[in-house]
Amino acid sequence: MRAHEAGALHGNDAAPTWLPYPADVNHLIPGLWSQTCRRDADGAVEVGGVSVTRLAEEVGTPAFVLDEDDFRARARRFRDAAAEAFRAHAGGEVYYAGKSFLCTEVARWVDEDGLGLDVCTGGELAVALRAGFPPARTALHGNNKSDAEIRRALEVGVGRIVVDSLGEIDQVERIAAALGTTAPVMLRITTGVEAHTHEFIATAHEDQKFGLSLSAGDAFEAIRRTLEATHLELVGLHSHIGSQIFDVGGFEVAARRVIDLVARVREELGHTITQLDLGGGFGVMYNTQHTPSTPEALMDGIAGIVEKQCHEAELPVPHVSFEPGRAIAGPSTQTLYTVGTVKDVRLGGPHHRVYVSVDGGMSDNIRTALYDADYSCLLSNRVSGERPEVVRVVGKHCESGDIVVKDEYLPADVEAGDLVSVPVTGAYCYALASNYNHVPRPPVVAVKDGAWRTLLRRETEEDLLGLDQG
Ligand code: LLP
Repeated sequence: MRAHEAGALHGNDAAPTWLPYPADVNHLIPGLWSQTCRRDADGAVEVGGVSVTRLAEEVGTPAFVLDEDDFRARARRFRDAAAEAFRAHAGGEVYYAGKSFLCTEVARWVDEDGLGLDVCTGGELAVALRAGFPPARTALHGNNKSDAEIRRALEVGVGRIVVDSLGEIDQVERIAAALGTTAPVMLRITTGVEAHTHEFIATAHEDQKFGLSLSAGDAFEAIRRTLEATHLELVGLHSHIGSQIFDVGGFEVAARRVIDLVARVREELGHTITQLDLGGGFGVMYNTQHTPSTPEALMDGIAGIVEKQCHEAELPVPHVSFEPGRAIAGPSTQTLYTVGTVKDVRLGGPHHRVYVSVDGGMSDNIRTALYDADYSCLLSNRVSGERPEVVRVVGKHCESGDIVVKDEYLPADVEAGDLVSVPVTGAYCYALASNYNHVPRPPVVAVKDGAWRTLLRRETEEDLLGLDQG
């Protein structure tokens, strides 16, 4: 985190050292833009065969523009990579993490493309059910599930409830008994791995709210209790170490520790655990600093680790599943904004900073403020021959921390009315969107083969006032 949020405001216009000076400020940097993005004959960015100028006219801005082919290709690529990596064993499977972005149409794509779905609240489960997503391929997560959420999950027949605490074992047992059913349970293990990511999105170190601690013995105790319970079926063990992770070392340590636990359970309890879920968390490229691995490299790497560990422990390789969200949804989407004001702020001496204000902000992308995320952006309605200049893209909210892109080069002639696109906003942007300052949430439109359609419509002031009973 920065020492003080106002700190950057007292800087100068020099680019951060990691930000490369663009040889061509109009260039779509490979890896940052979804697979169908290109410049059209007029120089506008086109995605799914639809130009952003047309989208701005017909949909309005701000808007999330989701490249359907890109999303689905990534989902299928993860699915295939996991299946292939564990083909020689009990199989590998992918559950799309709906928390990154979920609506009924996306749930249908995930279903058609043969992935499972990870939901973490009753609300996400409701979207999945509305979409007709098969409950048997749905996993319910959550560190504080309500009775109602667990009951609903059992009634519709979800494939796995990922239990997060010792208390939840009794809770699920009680509800399953009352319904006269058996609950399929995975146990989420805290492996003590310190994932190299922002502390708010690391989840396997000891001092946080998720999971059953391995070192404190809660994990083993949970397994023992689950095996003894009358209305619980132990499906397997779960581990998720965090999010936006590039280093497979963390997955390696987590897999090793979970497999050691599987060996201990077989030895001491005479039970062989046959399924593992190693969670999600695979990092994506938000800017040129990031170098994500391919799904194949990730899955093959993790399969190698699991095979080695199981071989050493003389265990059969279990069925292994994963829960990527960001790596599927993130790169599929760009946020399209219209520039309002451009302000050149003098900072003393030769220093200045150009603030480009757009018509959204922290209500549609809180990640910059919350995680110090570094996004990129592009002037997207035209190409420009002007020199690149470092700008800060800010929103319209009543808060100086309302920054969308901290530092990026845009052409020096960027002006009111121009369109700016911010790539890789498909994960945890709409999902974390708010109505701060009574700003209605933008729509999400899917583009494909030269057409667009609305997945989630734009919120209106009427929608917001609809909640107000005064
Ligand atoms: N599985 C479990 C149990 C999780 O808790 C998460 C994310 C995932 C899978 C998916 O992780 P992914 O592949 O998307 O990294 N709001 C934060 C991210 C929070 C992640 C929460 N759990 C952000 O905007 O970076």
